[in-house]
Amino acid sequence: MPPVILSIDQGTTSSRVILFDEHGNSFPQIQIPHTQIFPSPGWTEHDPLEIVQIVRDMMDKITDRLPEYGFTLSDLKGIGITNQRETTLLWDRFTGKPLYNAIVWHDTRTTPIVDALIKEKGHKFAYVEKTGLPLSSYFSAFKFMWLKKNIPEVQKAIDENRCMFGTIDTWLIWNLTGGPEGGLHITDVTNASRTMLFNIHALDWDDDLCNEFGVPRSILPSIRSSSEIFGKVKGGKLDGVAIAGCIGDQQSALLGHKALNEGDAKVTYGTGCFLLMNTGNKPVISKHGLITTVGYKLGKDSECVYALEGSVATAGAVVQWMTRNIKGMDSPHDIGPMASKVRDSGGIVFVPSFSGFFAPRWRSDVKGCVMGLTLQTEPAHFCFALEEAIACQVREVLLCMGQDRTISSNVRGILAENPSDFVDRTGVTGATPATPNTSLLGQNRSHLSQSITEEKLNSFSNPALVSRIAVPERVLVDGGPSEDVFLMQLQADYLGTLVVRPVSIEATALGASMAAGLAVGVWSDMDDLLQKVQSEMVVWKAKIEDEERTKRIQRWERAVNAVCMFVDKS
Ligand code: G3P
Repeated sequence: MPPVILSIDQGTTSSRVILFDEHGNSFPQIQIPHTQIFPSPGWTEHDPLEIVQIVRDMMDKITDRLPEYGFTLSDLKGIGITNQRETTLLWDRFTGKPLYNAIVWHDTRTTPIVDALIKEKGHKFAYVEKTGLPLSSYFSAFKFMWLKKNIPEVQKAIDENRCMFGTIDTWLIWNLTGGPEGGLHITDVTNASRTMLFNIHALDWDDDLCNEFGVPRSILPSIRSSSEIFGKVKGGKLDGVAIAGCIGDQQSALLGHKALNEGDAKVTYGTGCFLLMNTGNKPVISKHGLITTVGYKLGKDSECVYALEGSVATAGAVVQWMTRNIKGMDSPHDIGPMASKVRDSGGIVFVPSFSGFFAPRWRSDVKGCVMGLTLQTEPAHFCFALEEAIACQVREVLLCMGQDRTISSNVRGILAENPSDFVDRTGVTGATPATPNTSLLGQNRSHLSQSITEEKLNSFSNPALVSRIAVPERVLVDGGPSEDVFLMQLQADYLGTLVVRPVSIEATALGASMAAGLAVGVWSDMDDLLQKVQSEMVVWKAKIEDEERTKRIQRWERAVNAVCMFVDKS
């Protein structure tokens, strides 16, 4: 029989297992949610033992289904793991017991720690050159600091050399390969690049960063590529099967979309929205508050591919909140059809920053808001406004990517000598040297090169300018909410670029199976893979006029600025 690969996708709200054949075809998946623990407002935790148990159970269940799909166990050539990133936990290497629950990526409890460091350093970008990351509660190092300070057992375990640090990939692999009995303590470059302890140039833990955040190197996992035979499963029905792929879920989706060329971009709609643009073999440090991240490294000796990433903190999570709180909506699938009942939002604007803003604003202190309510406002207007807000945030991040890419790949060298060249190439008129000021992004931008004036940063609302920034001609989309055709049309409308969705929306899981399959020889190389794995696409084109787009986007931006200002003045 032809080979098959198992992908384990451990996400924020659920875990899934999916089998893929060598053509990238998937078989019916198993999905199990896990408990969301909310100890305080803004805090979210997961029980690591529950997650590992769910994954083990699903692995056994899917093994039982192999004959149903025409496979035997020996056809299963490898396992790829993809996971929610940044979510951090510590555990005891001898007992295998977590020292505390996992602190989830969007948890904002570390905001005071982050704010103090920003104050000390004077800005959010103190380590951006090394890590590609701004200082934010999103990343693992701060979660570790909180655990060390607040959970007495942690310092004790460190002192007694019992403490292990990991993101979810590390926790799963350690458990699946034996746990206290010889489990592998590893992570891959993509997950490591989200901890704030990793040097994205050296592709290794950074001693200075570890010192800064008080993380002993001895508790950190070793760093591997995303595609190699790491080890074998111990126990359960898949005992002896190779774990050969490990990649953070958003990077996995980039791979699953086969976004392998510089400039290829994807958006995964999930709990949040995650945009990644492939930037090739050199990291591009953002001038617009985006993250520079490792995209993938397919094999020990392969070159590392980097990406620019912008994450929208809450998208699907707010959709779920709506379905819990608005009468007549039972599932997230109801939002799009409900929104389609009205022509517009009826004048209301939804700022869905329930966990603050990630890129490009990086404000964990801002909360959600709805403006413009009238006695005529109906649930359908809420739905429209929420989908509009998702589309606007995605657009904002994509434009930042376009700006960064334009600057880094095309014009940076020319700018120093001849700023007018930048004017010609980007169509941004009236360029003047930047003066120290406070930008749209709420930070002092005086460090920027003279190419980026305040006017240009604020020009995002002008589609005439936007069209000449290097945004991709098409954006690849995936994730549950990408099945919402109303949202996808709105997204095309607000981007003014093509929105392209593979018929199968399983790009994340497919990416991990690609990483594993390449390592175990299901495909001889990437060319072989690309030839065999082909996808059919659905495409959306913009339907609204520039003027209407600009009007709607500006109104949304005004609301966001008002909400930020409200917090600033409170
Ligand atoms: O960075 C967090 C991200 O990896 C979570 O993705 O799909 O589990 O919401 P998801």
